[in-house]
Amino acid sequence: AALRALATDGIQAGHMTLHARSVVKAAGAPAELFNEVLERVLQSGEIKVWKAQQVLDEVRRSAPADRKTAPRRLPEAGVGVGYGKIILLGEHAVVHGRHAIGCPVPLTIRAVVEDGDRGVELLIPRWGVEYQLAKPPEQRRSFEQAAGAILDKLGLADRTLRIEVFPDVPRSMGLGGSAALAVAIVRAPDLHFRLGLTDVEVNELAYLSEQTAHGQPSGIDNTLATYGRPLVYRRGSPPLVELLNIPTPLSIVVGMTQSEGLTARTVANVSEARRRNPRLYEKIFDDIDSLVLQAVSAIQDSDVTTLGDLMNINQGLLNALQVSTPELERLIDVARDAGAAGAKLTGGGGGGAMIALCGDSTTADVQQAIERQGFRTLLVTPGAVQ
Ligand code: MEV
Repeated sequence: AALRALATDGIQAGHMTLHARSVVKAAGAPAELFNEVLERVLQSGEIKVWKAQQVLDEVRRSAPADRKTAPRRLPEAGVGVGYGKIILLGEHAVVHGRHAIGCPVPLTIRAVVEDGDRGVELLIPRWGVEYQLAKPPEQRRSFEQAAGAILDKLGLADRTLRIEVFPDVPRSMGLGGSAALAVAIVRAPDLHFRLGLTDVEVNELAYLSEQTAHGQPSGIDNTLATYGRPLVYRRGSPPLVELLNIPTPLSIVVGMTQSEGLTARTVANVSEARRRNPRLYEKIFDDIDSLVLQAVSAIQDSDVTTLGDLMNINQGLLNALQVSTPELERLIDVARDAGAAGAKLTGGGGGGAMIALCGDSTTADVQQAIERQGFRTLLVTPGAVQ
């Protein structure tokens, strides 16, 4: 009901949200609680600093553990859902034809389609985004290009409709935000207009959108965003997509840096370096591939120690590809010092997030150690029933 209430006012709600964001900021909401406070303030209709402070107190009093491990929400009727993800091992090498392992995180991006009143509108109130997609492709900017490509392909670009998006996956954190957004934007009109798209078609459209957004994606992010299951992936025609059986659930702490990671840029940098020195880089990609395949066996054997070692070595090779940053290295060090079995960056790097694999007894220590340094965390438990 809250979703519907937010969706009905369209553009006006978008402006309201921009105002509410500044109110929530003025109330001193920290980054990790910001979206929750914002949504509750918007629902209350009292866009005032005193109200935001009151809501912030309530949110702080509610069980923090629940928020950190919030289970993935099931799709509600008519709501298109795309899943966020982590790459366990193999990012960047996967762009160059090697294997990678990816797992969903308990964060999604959801979208709904409503009847609109002027062309195709795309609203993402939490991000302060309001776009008009009904324009020629060359006049579209940023998000409009990726979302517009989907609407063109679905033959809906000249309709009158409003797509409203509710993102839980943070932007530019290496957690698959752009792919989850693309999948949500494909699935919402599919449900609304009963287009009957298969998962394969949804995935293909999301891949098209990813290509528009960042040039040469491997396709792993949109595949994870579509299926929301742990999997081994290798690009190709068709790509290899194998569901990964995880007999003993893994305990992974995600630590988010304060810098955005621009995957398009790091992927382009690695490709350019490979072009200058193909033999050297192909060797690194092969070494990463070997780590990924050994990691699949370690997961089947429930061998956390070996899996952690493999992740640490993968991080060394990502460093060789120059996609790590001092901030990521700091969080990785903090996690290892606190007892993580292994830690590495996840996704495109150049900022964004890192992951730490923990044994049962170290998860809380690792999570607290990262948070004590002032960084946000998220607990992901691939293989657990959610
Ligand atoms: C991004 O999540 C993973 C990269 O390998 C890019 C890609 O596979 O498209 C860096």
